[in-house]
Amino acid sequence: MALYNDNPTIAHLDRTIDEKKQGEVFFKEAETGPRKFYIESYGCQMNFSDSEIVASILSDVGFSATRNMEESDLILINTCSIREKAEETVRKRLRIFDKVKEKRPGTLVGVLGCMAERLKTKLLEEEKLVDMVVGPDAYRDLPALVANANEGDKGVNVFLSREETYADISPMRLGSNGVSAFISIMRGCDNMCSFCVVPFTRGRERSRDAFSIVAEATDLFQKGYREVTLLGQNVDSYKWENPENGTPVSFAQLLEMVAQVHPDLRIRFSTSHPKDMTDQVLHTMAAHENICNYIHLPVQSGNSRILDLMNRTYTREWYIDRVDAIRRIIPECAISSDIIAGFCTETEEEHQDTLSVMEYADYSMSYMFFYSERPGTLAARKYEDDIPLEVKKRRLQEIIRLQNQISYRHNQRDIGKTFKVLIEGDSKRSDQDFCGRNSQNKMIVFPKKPGLKPGDYTWVTVHEATSATLKGTIEE
Ligand code: SAH
Ligand code: SF4
Ligand code: F3S
Repeated sequence: MALYNDNPTIAHLDRTIDEKKQGEVFFKEAETGPRKFYIESYGCQMNFSDSEIVASILSDVGFSATRNMEESDLILINTCSIREKAEETVRKRLRIFDKVKEKRPGTLVGVLGCMAERLKTKLLEEEKLVDMVVGPDAYRDLPALVANANEGDKGVNVFLSREETYADISPMRLGSNGVSAFISIMRGCDNMCSFCVVPFTRGRERSRDAFSIVAEATDLFQKGYREVTLLGQNVDSYKWENPENGTPVSFAQLLEMVAQVHPDLRIRFSTSHPKDMTDQVLHTMAAHENICNYIHLPVQSGNSRILDLMNRTYTREWYIDRVDAIRRIIPECAISSDIIAGFCTETEEEHQDTLSVMEYADYSMSYMFFYSERPGTLAARKYEDDIPLEVKKRRLQEIIRLQNQISYRHNQRDIGKTFKVLIEGDSKRSDQDFCGRNSQNKMIVFPKKPGLKPGDYTWVTVHEATSATLKGTIEE
């Protein structure tokens, strides 16, 4: 536990911050009251988790968070580059921030995250309102960049690190339900899936100090949280070595360490890569009741030729073997997926292979996309994006339709079963109902019962199911 700094200072800032500028940040606060920042996040859970690190870094230099951009001194947008549409969304938001800036001159706008990393200084040239561009490994530099921007100096820091894991920073939980939280266990990605921009925007893979992860989970549990999701682009390749004795910690071992924090702390994780997911991880899951029976195991395509072009480094047969291993070792486990329709050169038969692997894996749910070429990726350089948009869209529709059927079937099978549910809060539709998830990550809505509150576990029997939600009642 000693390795964990629960009340972080900005000790590392001396690397980049100029003392005088840092002083000015505080000076402004003394004059005008605490300065406020507003942050929006797009993209994956890692980005949401990073925003909590950013919030912590800013609050350490006297900023407070606001949900109202109109009253903020600093507007930040944590961006995603994964598909073209993600970047378009960000550009649209920048137009909105422009209006706030008009009304409130002096408001600073910062672009963070993957789009910042991908476009670098280009973003300053293309988007005149932007005052700073900060890549995912440069957040400790934010106070200095803000101080500079206050002086009218626009700044860019897109330095990608081989070491940075923000292990010592205690994230400030944003928009949290107080029950479940994300813990980032690694950064970057060393896989080179040919369609993917992440290795370029997030840099090399590095694993975070295992003890700092356990300490963060312990701290969350003590604060009343009952569920943590361990995050990484490829959690199965987590590998950390204790510098004191050289002992390596694998993902399976890390899972075990976090599971031992408390039997009432649920553990989830994302994302598992089929090429790296070992039986050892599955056995660890089976051995601990509090490690949830749910694996997000993106297939991308069900066809081995396409998987090879995607550089996923597994075949359809390998993937099916992993699904079989899950069923064998954790029979109650739900599996979900990410699927890409219409990758370069994909034929109708190859698309059918994706549909059939979906049937085989019996996914409880999937995130489904059509292929979007990203500049600089392997696929953009090597292959022609030759599937017409209408074909991509039609194949995607077929995938979505099938997934809805599979999800519906999956959920119908739960009718009559009783699940242990962690109460997250009121249901979206009614304050007379609670909602919470079962171990398989399915959301269940059920009437409240006096004495129960968010963060409590209860047993719920399912009576009704759509393709999206289960409804039930508490077991007496
Ligand atoms: N690390 C995770 C994926 C992170 S990106 C993994 O390996 O599974 C999330 C998902 O976005 C990917 O799984 C993929 O399905 C999708 N995706 C990534 N690049 C894409 C692109 N260029 N076009 C369409 N979808 C893409
Ligand atoms: Fe992208 Fe592949 Fe890395 Fe996932 S594993 S982030 S898809 S390169
Ligand atoms: Fe997007 Fe970056 Fe995540 S590109 S999906 S925010 S790692």
